[in-house]
Amino acid sequence: MISKSRWKLLAMLALVLVVMVWYSISREDRYIELFYFPIPEKKEPCFQGEAERKASKLFGNYSRDQPIFLQMKDYFWVKTPSAYELPYGTKGSEDLLLRVLAITSYSIPESIQSLKCRRCVVVGNGHRLRNSSLGDAINKYDVVIRLNNAPVAGYEGDVGSKTTMRLFYPESAHFNPKVENNPDTLLVLVAFKAMDFHWIETILSDKKRVRKGFWKQPPLIWDVNPRQVRILNPFFMEIAADKLLNLPMKQPRKIKQKPTTGLLAITLALHLCDLVHIAGFGYPDAHNRKQTIHYYEQITLKSMAGSGHNVSQEALAIKRMLEIGAVKNLTFF
Ligand SMILES: *[C@@H]1O[C@H](CO)[C@@H](O)[C@H](O)[C@H]1NC(C)=O
Ligand SMILES: *[C@@H]1O[C@H](CO)[C@@H](O)[C@H](O)[C@H]1NC(C)=O
Ligand SMILES: *[C@@H]1O[C@H](CO)[C@@H](O)[C@H](O)[C@H]1NC(C)=O
Ligand SMILES: *[C@@H]1O[C@H](CO)[C@@H](O)[C@H](O)[C@H]1NC(C)=O
Repeated sequence: MISKSRWKLLAMLALVLVVMVWYSISREDRYIELFYFPIPEKKEPCFQGEAERKASKLFGNYSRDQPIFLQMKDYFWVKTPSAYELPYGTKGSEDLLLRVLAITSYSIPESIQSLKCRRCVVVGNGHRLRNSSLGDAINKYDVVIRLNNAPVAGYEGDVGSKTTMRLFYPESAHFNPKVENNPDTLLVLVAFKAMDFHWIETILSDKKRVRKGFWKQPPLIWDVNPRQVRILNPFFMEIAADKLLNLPMKQPRKIKQKPTTGLLAITLALHLCDLVHIAGFGYPDAHNRKQTIHYYEQITLKSMAGSGHNVSQEALAIKRMLEIGAVKNLTFF
């Protein structure tokens, strides 16, 4: 009798102990689903290869074999002669490019590489992100692509804080890259001219800076790790211009139209990802002169004059992508 009740007591104690341990570990987030019914996360279903399939209607039968970033081995013996000069190809800039590729990297991080299905969001810089409260939703994507000098600090609630990649060119580089990016953000250089390669080389290997040849003074000191810098394959600029905007590849010096970084980023995402959502795209109507165009600064459409971008033509291209379901908009377009 006595020993039986003693066993019962011991069993009770053991049970209490197990429950206590269980409770304490359950307080760590990763154990929570063992104890609560998991709140079904409203994640968009992702279908492998879907973006590629849909985008082939726009770009034709391109292949994923096109590397996203340029790498040394494709240039060392000039195995990849380019038909075009920058920004659509590397013709004539190979020597400068080689020097840059020698000090940067080209790999896609394992965390993206290993995903069965890549959910991506391209965050434009548009005014519609203001007060959008999309920050949490944006942070949930596997890949968050941002553009140029768009800030994150102070705008987290509307634009999120995760940045997987940031596309930029020297004149659009943020002067304080550490503040506006994560420690592992890939900084993806979009080269428009040979000087852009020269700029990144002088910055990363601390050579004598060049000040001429830019339409706006780029940073002379830029505190980034060269291993995070990537060079975007100009193929994406070529097909954005050719297939989305029908621009002539060889333009007279005076016209020089080109896609915006935003359109380029969507083009890239359609090749890198399986699902592509966009947020913060779209400009005000041409007659709306007072409306600011960005979520973070007080500039209007006037500032786009002479930029070589045709925003109404780009809007048509994006509308088409929305219509065929290649991309989905998170903000009004
Ligand atoms: C692209 O490839 C698919 C599958 O190989 C084929 O069915 C389709 O007709 C091709 N489209 C074009 C535009 O060549
Ligand atoms: C955003 O919200 C703030 C505070 O609610 C408001 O003052 C501001 O006008 C809003 N901005 C826009 C662009 O709607
Ligand atoms: C911009 O694109 C629109 C629509 O395609 C076209 O009508 C207009 O002429 C273009 N503007 C310029 C300056 O090329
Ligand atoms: C996407 O854009 C369309 C207009 O083109 C709009 O009706 C729709 O509300 C937008 N979606 C979101 C989530 O804002």
